[in-house]
Amino acid sequence: MRMKDKCGIVTAAASGMGRAGTLLLAREGAKVCVVDRDAAGAQAVVDEIRAAGGTAFAIGADLRDLDIASGLVARAVAEFGALDFLWNHLGHPGPAAVEGLDWNDFDLALDLNIRSQLASTIAALPELRARGGGSILFTASTSGMSASTFSPVYSGMKAGVIGLVRGLAKRYAREGIRVNAVCPGPFDTPMAREFVDRKDQTATKGMDREELVQKFGASTAMGRAGRPEEVGYAALFLLSDEASFITGAYLPVDGGLLA
Ligand SMILES: NC(=O)c1ccc[n+]([C@@H]2O[C@H](COP(=O)([O-])OP(=O)(O)OC[C@H]3O[C@@H](n4cnc5c(N)ncnc54)[C@H](O)[C@@H]3O)[C@@H](O)[C@H]2O)c1
Repeated sequence: MRMKDKCGIVTAAASGMGRAGTLLLAREGAKVCVVDRDAAGAQAVVDEIRAAGGTAFAIGADLRDLDIASGLVARAVAEFGALDFLWNHLGHPGPAAVEGLDWNDFDLALDLNIRSQLASTIAALPELRARGGGSILFTASTSGMSASTFSPVYSGMKAGVIGLVRGLAKRYAREGIRVNAVCPGPFDTPMAREFVDRKDQTATKGMDREELVQKFGASTAMGRAGRPEEVGYAALFLLSDEASFITGAYLPVDGGLLA
């Protein structure tokens, strides 16, 4: 088992790529604290893990509240006895607009794309250090590696996530704490709907979710959108000891979009 005896936390784990990756981590022996604003969805993931013989528990929480981060880590350590990994999967499309930008939307995106990830990381670092090392993974985006006219603010924030990952990787490398990012391209998850439904989105006006997934999927070299478990497998690798010499990396999982 690739994650035997490893304990960790996954945020935004009730749906999409977070859910798929969490199920894979648990299948490979990880004990997982499943965190999501959707408490019932998080519990459903936990039920699925337990039914397969794994160990997990759910926390329903809105991670915009930064005070929650230390509580999450404390709960995970109380349940599992230690912390080996943290996957900051939470993110948000943010505003599509530039001119006419609603700064409240900007603040929400900043909170969900960067501040909450940093808060969880700050809370996790002492526990990872106490364990003699560990692995932190962030979910960035190909939009943070190449420009998106569709979502310039999202691009900027995901580029910020990548910068944060690289800086943290260098700062904590000598303590055995690895920090990496996965950068999904277009994925067929509920979040695609949030991109289309943004009140200031004009490029996709009138498009439904399926059309959007189709359109963005067609832009990859493989000509299709990703399946949630395809990020899940990348996350599993980067969080496991198989990636022991990899830190500061930001791995596109994009069907060749950026190639
Ligand atoms: N879907 C894509 O095409 C795509 C592409 C690139 C990057 N990403 C990134 O992947 C991550 C999530 O994407 P997904 O497609 O798996 O999403 P998803 O829509 O399938 O799931 C998102 C989950 O986040 C939870 N959530 C939302 N706000 C929350 C909050 N305030 N506190 C706690 N939980 C909250 C939701 O309840 C949901 O379970 C984000 O970081 C996103 O930026 C997505």
